[in-house]
Amino acid sequence: MDIAVGIGILGCGTVGTAVATRLLEERDALIARAGASFTLHGIAIGNLTKPREAAIAPSLFTDDARALVDDPRIDIIVECIGGTTLASELVESALYSGRHVISANKDLLATQGPRLHALASARGSHLRYEAAVGSAIPVLRILSEALAGDRVEAVAGVLNGTCNFVLEAMENGASYADALAQAQALGYAEADPRNDVEGIDTTHKLAVLAQLGFGVPLTTSRIASAGIANITQRDVARAQMLDYHIRLVAAARRTDEGIAAEVAPLLVHASHPFAQLHGPENAITVIGRDSGALLLRGQGAGGNATASAVLGDIISTLRAIAERRTFLPLRQRAHGLAQAHATPLFDRLTRNRTLPRYAVWEDSILTAPVSPLLVAHSRPGKETLA
Ligand SMILES: NC(=O)c1ccc[n+]([C@@H]2O[C@H](COP(=O)([O-])OP(=O)(O)OC[C@H]3O[C@@H](n4cnc5c(N)ncnc54)[C@H](OP(=O)(O)O)[C@@H]3O)[C@@H](O)[C@H]2O)c1
Repeated sequence: MDIAVGIGILGCGTVGTAVATRLLEERDALIARAGASFTLHGIAIGNLTKPREAAIAPSLFTDDARALVDDPRIDIIVECIGGTTLASELVESALYSGRHVISANKDLLATQGPRLHALASARGSHLRYEAAVGSAIPVLRILSEALAGDRVEAVAGVLNGTCNFVLEAMENGASYADALAQAQALGYAEADPRNDVEGIDTTHKLAVLAQLGFGVPLTTSRIASAGIANITQRDVARAQMLDYHIRLVAAARRTDEGIAAEVAPLLVHASHPFAQLHGPENAITVIGRDSGALLLRGQGAGGNATASAVLGDIISTLRAIAERRTFLPLRQRAHGLAQAHATPLFDRLTRNRTLPRYAVWEDSILTAPVSPLLVAHSRPGKETLA
């Protein structure tokens, strides 16, 4: 094992701490699995004086993230800072200099993925981000590798644990404001919860799924979306009486005209897997032309669950380096940078007469033939007799 690879981590919060701890504590086992030796050379953080619970040598920390990215000993940058400003600059700089990048950052990939992939491709670098959607659920690998010989027709899922928690608390009688306060007190929601409750986080994840599944440069701003902030306790209780749960559903499919995609709170029947999730759990359906429907369910958030996916990406990058493999493009790289646009999807769902604000989720929307006429005339949705 003559190859020694240098790793630098950007960010040591929930995700960065779990990744660094595993790399340090399980180094020998990870090296044996990867077939390449590695050394963690540094971890960039925002505040050097902040107390840290994990047993990480203080000498590893730096508050100069740019210098860490430029450190000549480092081959792989693991980005766990989040956001789209500093993270974008650092990831771009790392890729430009030929370093491989692993990220957990859905915001960045959903909004700038096509450009970053083009840069990685031009510089011969590896860009991997399995943790960005569904944390521990290996859905991006399924889309880009396991189904590489198939044609992905549709993806759908419930992708945000904070929304699940808030809606579940409302089902137990809490108002929206109380449910959100509970989620914040328990650490399920950020102090500023807008990204989650306004559906932005879910739309980022849908954009990443669509980019990899359909090979199109679809970014967040091109997808119709709504969040859960206007849902009342009365809506939730009425839905339960009808044997439904309100869940924030994301879905995208191919149509003859291109891609249809949407994120919105929908009525999901109690018997459906999307309705049976708790807290940070996510569920994702992938429909391949030949594979048919695949259903994945698992931990969609949390330090260790997210680190599981990040470490998988690190190992696969180490293996590729050890085997001196060319870094194969993910599916989306072949499709250029022209922005794709998605038409709304949920127009085609029926509505419930008692709760007409909400469309009713049906799996068949992912596979049923699409009539262009229906798309043009179906707003605000057909009524059911329920
Ligand atoms: N948390 C999850 O369950 C989860 C799941 C999937 C994906 N993700 C993604 O993973 C990424 C990280 O999330 P997280 O929850 O770990 O975030 P976090 O706990 O807020 O950690 C962010 C880290 O970035 C560091 N940072 C901030 N400004 C910096 C700067 N100027 N230079 C260097 N470091 C800086 C912070 O430093 P300090 O420690 O000094 O404040 C902190 O260590 C995000 O993209 C998120 O979307 C998270």
